[in-house]
Amino acid sequence: MQPKGLICAGGEATRLGELTRVANKHLLPVGSWPMIYYPLQLLQLAGIRDVLLVTGKGHAGQMIDLLGDGRLAPRGGGDPILELDLTYKVQTEPGGIAQVVGMAEDFAGGAPLVVVLGDNIFEYAQSPSLHEWAEQPTRARIYVKEVDDPENFGVVVYDDDGQVMDIVEKAGVVDTRYDAPPTSHAVVGLYCFPPDVFNVIATLNPSARGELEITDVNRHYALAGRLDAAEVSGWWEDAGKHWQHLADIGRRIEETGANKRVGA
Ligand code: DAU
Repeated sequence: MQPKGLICAGGEATRLGELTRVANKHLLPVGSWPMIYYPLQLLQLAGIRDVLLVTGKGHAGQMIDLLGDGRLAPRGGGDPILELDLTYKVQTEPGGIAQVVGMAEDFAGGAPLVVVLGDNIFEYAQSPSLHEWAEQPTRARIYVKEVDDPENFGVVVYDDDGQVMDIVEKAGVVDTRYDAPPTSHAVVGLYCFPPDVFNVIATLNPSARGELEITDVNRHYALAGRLDAAEVSGWWEDAGKHWQHLADIGRRIEETGANKRVGA
């Protein structure tokens, strides 16, 4: 069965301060596009057409105004930016990324799911890897990238054979088993799940920050020996960290492009 796509664009976005009082974080400009175009385009380049976009309560209207049914022609003409079939859902409280994935159960209808966080932007669309996973989507797949600030992310711990042994979410804050991140291999906001992901989510309890953690879902697959970790090809950015970052990422996109089609 062809995978479907999910974009997580709910949450509270307090880290961007005054910018997100009225505007939704995912609609802020990054380069020449609103932030949300990038993860949507990544799904399209993975060959996915049916996409569920989950947004927060105050912002669903803005999102629908911008994206409509998912077919988006550029202003002034030219090739379409997006040719997706979009469905929308509202997350009323920010209960965590795994809660958002759980909201996609009916939409998925038994299909595997590719999930992208609405504030994650990639130099390469990771298309070869995503296409390869989609040929036999029986295992979960995460993407990892070495970072300088692992305390801000979930990080992967490998065993001697290079298999994922554990995943630690914001060490010392969310995952109190560790005071500091045990590695600097951050888990980025792109996840591939087989159809049984909803059974896993049904077993989760809220974390120390009161959320259903996507890291707990991934740890479940790791412990079951059903998780692969792929290196992100090219640069990757979490655009939701700080307002100063938005302009830096925009410049980066201008220099190198984003969602390029070659690369792993
Ligand atoms: O960016 C990668 C990181 O994303 C991972 O390394 C972490 O393991 C993962 O937990 C996540 O961490 P963040 O703290 O960056 O997540 P944040 O709360 O910023 O949310 C990321 C996106 O997910 C954001 O675009 C909004 C969406 N979201 C978040 C929450 C908590 C929702 O749609 N609903 C939610 O309830």
